[in-house]
Amino acid sequence: MKSKIIIALAVIVIIAPAFKAMNFQKKPWPVPDTAKNKKNPVVSNAESIAAGKALWSTHCKSCHGAKGLGDGPKAAQLNTEPGDFSKTDVQAQTDGSLFYKTSQGRDDMPGYKSKIPDQNDIWSLVNYIRTLKKGGATAPVVPVVKDTVKKVDQPVKVETPPAKKDTVIKKNDPVIPKTENIPLQEQINILRARVDSLEKEMHKLKEKISTMKKDSVSYN
Ligand code: HEC
Repeated sequence: MKSKIIIALAVIVIIAPAFKAMNFQKKPWPVPDTAKNKKNPVVSNAESIAAGKALWSTHCKSCHGAKGLGDGPKAAQLNTEPGDFSKTDVQAQTDGSLFYKTSQGRDDMPGYKSKIPDQNDIWSLVNYIRTLKKGGATAPVVPVVKDTVKKVDQPVKVETPPAKKDTVIKKNDPVIPKTENIPLQEQINILRARVDSLEKEMHKLKEKISTMKKDSVSYN
């Protein structure tokens, strides 16, 4: 008796996820090439992301959830799953594709072409969707580098050098890929890693200095 129950449970455990995957398997959503390859004209900066976030709260959160996990309060009533925007199947899509799907809609997913008439607003939504990538939703927005440059008390005007086309390779440093096409969150992560490694190096130097100081004191 007991073993039958165990077998039944095992069958449920093995088969249930397969059924779930079948029921909710995403229907492919083809996007025309011209739409797919459309370039995002709105730079992904703090301002655009904030605008996107506000629109997300008003229009999208109810189904897609605050963090885009597909767990909004309305999600349970839908026939199709809204998907998980933290995952690569969404994040790997081009900005143009996300723009197209948001504008056009399909079935349970409303089209926002007329509800959000300014196309730049939809591009800002796309910029915000990029911050929903796994591990990126709660990260604070790092201030724009240009601002810090301005604040430096210097009579000489400091120009930010143009982004280099090639990857910069420094000895012992991770490769820094060209940043123009990388989502903001990715850029932040790269910068964080750099700051971390610099901090470690500084710490080591400090330790060195303090041992040197100690040595010199003991010799006196
Ligand atoms: C009424 C619920 C609902 C609302 C509100 C909603 N969506 Fe959706 N969304 C869905 C559903 C359901 C799908 C899956 C549609 C499908 O695959 O047919 C979807 C799919 C998407 C996709 C495609 C995801 C993929 O996997 O390719 C994008 C992009 C998207 N929504 C963006 C938005 C944005 C941006 C907003 C707000 C402006 C929004 N949605 C508002 C329900 C909603």
